[in-house]
Amino acid sequence: KRVVVFISGGGSNMLSLATAAVEPDFPAEIIAVITDKADAGGLAKAAALGIPTSSFVRKDFTSKEAHEAAILAELDRLAPDIICLAGYMRLLSSAFIQRHRGRILNIHPSLLPLFPGLHTHQRALDAGMKLAGCTVHFVTEGMDDGPIVAQAAVPIIAGDTAETLAARVLTVEHKIYPLALRLVAEGKVEMKDGRAVSYALGE
Ligand code: GRF
Repeated sequence: KRVVVFISGGGSNMLSLATAAVEPDFPAEIIAVITDKADAGGLAKAAALGIPTSSFVRKDFTSKEAHEAAILAELDRLAPDIICLAGYMRLLSSAFIQRHRGRILNIHPSLLPLFPGLHTHQRALDAGMKLAGCTVHFVTEGMDDGPIVAQAAVPIIAGDTAETLAARVLTVEHKIYPLALRLVAEGKVEMKDGRAVSYALGE
């Protein structure tokens, strides 16, 4: 399966996907990395792995629609089977999501449906949670609310700050995203009628 990864920052999740994908038995290859930030740290990581990258800087376009149109044209050229948002900090329009319905995955640093949106770790701490974690889900029109593919939890430890918790969650993000991508690439999980349907996971 052909996978395009979208990043806006350091790209540690992109790197974990790309590292997993080089394994011979992995059912997907990362064919390109797309970013909306020309200075995204992940661009160098992708280039070091020989993965083609392209930047679409929002301020270079007159509107959100024009910005997305350029990205969509690049996607039509790349023809990915799966799009992985990985630290991509821009909301996709419903037109974009419709065009690639059921093919877009995202990783969110909370145990959805708890804490959609930003500052998830501080909010978990403020709520007195004893567990935190991350979620890989199919992307739908709503923000951080598509069908869930996989989740991983970590303990919250007394004295945790948003930073120490974020670091602990990031380590399990790097494990759960490659697992989730494998399941989707193998067709063991797919989005059907707005739900994540699993097939024969035991095999
Ligand atoms: C991660 O916490 C991820 O969950 C969120 O963006 C953060 C940075 O990710 N979506 P990365 O290092 O750029 O992959």
